[in-house]
Amino acid sequence: MEIRMKAAVHLEDGKMVRPVIAGNWKMNKTVAEAVDFVSRLVKALTPRPEPEVIIAPPFTAIQAVAELLQGSPVRLAAQNLHEAEKGAYTGEISGAMIREAGCTHVIIGHSERRTLFGEQDERIHRKLVAALAAGLKPIFCIGETLQEREEGRMKNVIERQIKEGLNNLTADDIRRTLVAYEPVWAIGTGRTATPVQAEEVHRFIREWIAGRYGNEAAAEMAILYGGSVTPKNIAELMSQPDINGALVGGASLDVGSFVQLVAYQSIEGV
Ligand code: PGA
Repeated sequence: MEIRMKAAVHLEDGKMVRPVIAGNWKMNKTVAEAVDFVSRLVKALTPRPEPEVIIAPPFTAIQAVAELLQGSPVRLAAQNLHEAEKGAYTGEISGAMIREAGCTHVIIGHSERRTLFGEQDERIHRKLVAALAAGLKPIFCIGETLQEREEGRMKNVIERQIKEGLNNLTADDIRRTLVAYEPVWAIGTGRTATPVQAEEVHRFIREWIAGRYGNEAAAEMAILYGGSVTPKNIAELMSQPDINGALVGGASLDVGSFVQLVAYQSIEGV
């Protein structure tokens, strides 16, 4: 059996980025289904899984799942928030509400929010600020479309999204932020970026962070890859030096497959 160890980013003093496996359920699972999934997940995981494990259920299931996860190392993320603290925003949910319900993280700027709900960089920036103010760790998503890649604009787009999304966040804010690179053409399509393609962008992101916030902040930042990650391709993606984790949609919905993703370090035959 081939065991691949994570090529983590090491700082000179020996610190490294802990791998992160995050499941984004999107608009899937009722409360009953979520509770069933999490009960089985908790039984299947070792008490201290090597990666940090995060699940992002729909809002309606967060509280029930949080209760089940008490005392477990699994962390909870919301899939979105509204940037205002409170007020007349029918249908929206604030950072404080998410935090109170039991989340430690929140996904911000997912490409589905950008394309289906018209969220642009400036709004995403305000959401990042709101998340940090509420004590949540943002999982800040960026990624180019196929057309942008084919026109050779991939790096410009990624740079614009990071620059405008992070805008004037402080080094302390950056320390609490995770970035997820999710090429739009790879999300839910079964078409994954090759490890080399993903690594190229991850390195670019880390270098950008280093240029703006210094080498230490860059080395400590968890940069996740997302887009058709499965138990078959995760180990190879994770073996890239700048890939610290995975944000998984489809393959996170089945508990067996999610447990395999968490245990990617022992996957055979990659
Ligand atoms: P996918 O979704 O794994 O189904 O491609 C990833 C995501 O959208 O976060």
